[in-house]
This record gives sequence, structure tokens and C-alpha cells, in this order.
Amino acid sequence: MEVNILKEKLLKELVLVKDNDSLVKLKKQYLGRKGKLNSLFQELKNLPPEERKKRGQELNEFKNFLEKEFKKKETEIKESSGSLKNDWLDITAPGRKASIASFHPLTQTIRTVCEIFNSMGFSTELGPEIESEYYNFDALNIPKDHPAREMWDTFWLWQEGFDKEKNRSPKERFLLRTHTSPVQIRYMEKEQPPLRIIAPGKCFRREATDPSHDFELYQLEGLMVDQNINVSHLKGVIEAFLRLFFGKSVEVRFRPSYFPFTEPSFEVDFKCLRCQGRGCSLCKESGWLEMMGAGMVHPKVFEAVGYNNKKWQGFAFGLGLDRLTMMKFGIPDIRLLRNSDLRVLRQF
Ligand code: FA5
Repeated sequence: MEVNILKEKLLKELVLVKDNDSLVKLKKQYLGRKGKLNSLFQELKNLPPEERKKRGQELNEFKNFLEKEFKKKETEIKESSGSLKNDWLDITAPGRKASIASFHPLTQTIRTVCEIFNSMGFSTELGPEIESEYYNFDALNIPKDHPAREMWDTFWLWQEGFDKEKNRSPKERFLLRTHTSPVQIRYMEKEQPPLRIIAPGKCFRREATDPSHDFELYQLEGLMVDQNINVSHLKGVIEAFLRLFFGKSVEVRFRPSYFPFTEPSFEVDFKCLRCQGRGCSLCKESGWLEMMGAGMVHPKVFEAVGYNNKKWQGFAFGLGLDRLTMMKFGIPDIRLLRNSDLRVLRQF
């Protein structure tokens, strides 16, 4: 067949092509190994040499024509299917869920705890995380070289070996506070009794971690100073707080203990709510969780801040907020609170 006729035929056929499959088929008929173009090329050898050259040029030009037309059609199909795809809207597809952020369980606890104590007349006070040796220890009746200091493994911000540092006064030697008790001192130095405060905050201890100990922890300090205050007020406040926090009564147990800044001193356990006291991994099978240290403010502490210790009495406590959070949400390991694992955090 003559090349010109073939060209016309192809253009007509291309008009009818609507999709890629038919285009591939048609292309094979013209440009495939056994296609029309190749069979024309094969006939070349039968021609006399003088005609062969001219015919060869003609066929090459036909080849370019075919390639150009097929390319054009290919682009046309691609574009039209692309626009179709963009216009496509599947109204039956389920909607995409908006992800709503939530507060970290520790933040939730701190907010609730503060609200409850505020409603009982305690104001919220804050102190620095980088604290001086004086406020963290000395003013709390924990003198240097006293064995009680060993109760709190400390991250020091100065080095013992440095003479320059050694000669500094405890007010100029710094550390990461090991508890929130220094906030008691800072507050009493500037305010007069009667008073009721809480102080939530981060504390740091140089100790190994386990399911109930971390080297970074949150405490809530509580301090109430007034006339005729005794241990029953402390117990009453704690029990009232727990009722509001957990929405039901929680049994508490006071065990005699020792803190240099309180006398008498107690360790306070809460009945484990995860197992209702039967024993589980959270409470180490004992049915109780050690939640706070507490006691009646030591006269020496009042002396350090210039209060008349004949006139005023007070109670103080330091509650572990991580453990309270674990008890509230049934979290079995304290380290889950700080490893930023979204699979954990998304549950709250
Ligand atoms: C104190 O820190 C005292 N300052 C508490 C206090 C305040 C006593 C006022 C008297 C008057 P203690 O080291 O026991 O005490 O810590 C108190 C609570 O903090 C513990 O009961 C526990 O709930 C929590 N806690 C202590 N160390 C850690 C830790 N490494 N990880 C998690 N929680 C801890």
C-alpha cells in the first residue's frame, strides 16, 4: 500500500482510539516487529539500487510520522485520564479523622491536683529547679556531713575538688533540687503565718531507675502553718484530697519515718487502686503504694525562717505526682511517662 494512503488510514484509526490499550494495539500494527512499517522496509531489498535510496528516505520519513502521531495520541490520553482522576470524588469514602491533641497524663494530674487544693484554700507557689545547697538542705535542718543528706542522691552543679567552689557559702553552691521542700523555706522567708500553700514541680535524683523510681520526678509540696495544727489536720486534708481526686475514699496508712525537717515524720501509703489492695505489679504485690513523705514542721525550720515556734505549728508533705498519675491511670512503669512513646500517650 502506498505510504500516503497508510498515513490517512492511520489518522482515521487514531481518531477512534480512546484508551491506552487500543493505542498499544494499533501501534503494534504499524511499528511492531511484524508491523506495516517493517514489512515495507523488507521489500526494499527487491528494488533496483537506484530506486532503493529514494524509497528508503520515504520510509524513514513515514517512520518519523508514525512515531510523532502515536506520541501525540499518547499524551492526549494521559492528559484526559489525569483530569478525570482529579475530578473524581468518592462520596462513599470514610472521612479522615482529625487528630486532636491531649494533655500528657502528668500535666492532667498536676492541673487537677492544683485545682483541688486551691478549692481547699491552698495557693500555688513555684520555686526554681536549680536550687542552692542552702535551700535544698541547710535551711531544712540537714547540715553538711549529716548522714541524712545521703537520703537524696544529688546532681551537684559544682565540683568538690575545686577550692574556689569549696569556699563558697551554701547559698552560692548550686544543685538540681532533689525535692520541692525548699519552696517551703522560700515562701516562709517572705510571708507570715497563717498560711496554706502547695508547690508542684520537677525534682532530680542521681539514682538508678526501676518501675517506681526515675531520676526525674514530679512532687507536690504542701504546707499549712497556723495555731493548734496537729497530725489529724494533715490526715484530714490528705483524705479529703484523695476523695476529690479519685471520686471515692482511698485508704491511707501512716508509717513512722524520719525527715530532718519534720517531727514526728511519716511515710504515707495509699491503698493500691489498681488491685484494690490484693497485690499487683504496680504495688509490688503489697497492696500499698508509698506516695508521700510528711510530718509536723520541725521547730528548727521555723527558727531558720524567723517564725516563733512556740506560737505556730504546721504540717508539711511531699507527694509523688508520678506515682499518683500511675495509680490514677493504671500505668505499671514510671518510665513510660517520659519516653515520649505515642502509642502510650495516645491512650490518655
Ligand atoms: C521527700 O522528698 C521529702 N521532701 C518529703 C517531705 C516533704 C517530707 C515535707 C516531710 C515534709 P521522699 O524522698 O520520700 O521525701 O519523696 C517523697 C515522695 O516522692 C515519695 O513518696 C515518692 O512518691 C516520690 N519519689 C521519691 N523519689 C522518687 C523517684 N526516684 N521516682 C519517683 N518518685 C519518687
